[in-house]
Amino acid sequence: MPNSYKIAVLAGDGIGPEVMAEALKVLRKIEASPGIKFEFNEQLVGGAAIDAVGQALPAETVAACAQSDAILFGSVGGPKWEKLPPNEQPERGALLPLRKHFGLFANLRPSICYPSLTHASPVKDSIIEGGFNVLCVRELTGGLYFGQPKFCKEIDGEMTAVDTMVYKKSEIERIAHVAFKAAQGRSKHVTSIDKANVLENGILWRATVEEIARQYPDVKLAHLYVDNAAMQLIKNPKGFDVVLCENLFGDILSDEMAMIAGSLGMLASASLGKPKGDGLYFGLFEPSGGTAPDIAGKGIANPIAQILSAALMLRFSLGLKKEAVTIEAAVRKVIDDGLRTGDIYSGAEGTRKVGTKEIGDAITERV
Ligand code: IPM
Ligand code: MN
Repeated sequence: MPNSYKIAVLAGDGIGPEVMAEALKVLRKIEASPGIKFEFNEQLVGGAAIDAVGQALPAETVAACAQSDAILFGSVGGPKWEKLPPNEQPERGALLPLRKHFGLFANLRPSICYPSLTHASPVKDSIIEGGFNVLCVRELTGGLYFGQPKFCKEIDGEMTAVDTMVYKKSEIERIAHVAFKAAQGRSKHVTSIDKANVLENGILWRATVEEIARQYPDVKLAHLYVDNAAMQLIKNPKGFDVVLCENLFGDILSDEMAMIAGSLGMLASASLGKPKGDGLYFGLFEPSGGTAPDIAGKGIANPIAQILSAALMLRFSLGLKKEAVTIEAAVRKVIDDGLRTGDIYSGAEGTRKVGTKEIGDAITERV
């Protein structure tokens, strides 16, 4: 009997379904190895769910996720749903509640600049020559995204918007542990990001991270204010290993890092809850790039972030490390072989511009 893994597949909107199709193709190829069977449970989410059943996160979708070993997520949102009340829109109505509901507090975003792709980066060669590999560890269920009170209403005759930044010490501790443990398996260097010169949250963040660091004497810890970090990351990305951030700072810096690495279309992510005890995590795995409505349906989107997200799912939720490495190596091989979607194509010699399906096929072949 093969090991059977249940995966909730939530493709969503925009380029989501196109890039998801390529990731599923790659997983089907992995399934060809004996002992592995995937049960894909495709469910509605985001704008697609609003159109079909009137809400961004149907109860059936949540139930399907709860019955699965992991969630493979595409992307949600788009201009069509931007006029809806904020809480009913795909992002706030589906993605954020999913993260909160399943307690997915740890968001890992590996930003990898492949040596053969440095030309795709807007940053000059002398800075990123040889590539780099930075892991952003972003707290995902706290801070300004979820803090209460949160409203926009008239106060004293004037519209007033309030978002509240809240962190409990325990929330900082658990994400700091994730960052230090990750660093132990890498170059043993954590840079913690805060705004301790202005925010109470930043002061508690810094003090707590300092405390946790004592349990990891083999890992070097540095602190940066977020504004300085935005600058240092672009000045010398190779100087970073693990970057530890609260929710909003991580959202912003991970986009910056993805672009420095070449393209948002390459950035995979894993959103994990508490370890389950067997060394594995329930998690949601998604590309960080969004729905890209401008290119949706054209067959030109880069599916690599989605495919690499599937690899992270194999590693963190299913315990299929060898297979994860196989997929990551296949992606690297296809890039080394010169295949490029538009976002990473610069016309360099030995490279060829291809569409979503063709690069997906090429990766599948090399798995
Ligand atoms: C991300 C996205 C989301 C976020 C949006 C879509 C709510 O930008 O995953 O980075 O802000 O977390
Ligand atoms: Mn973002």
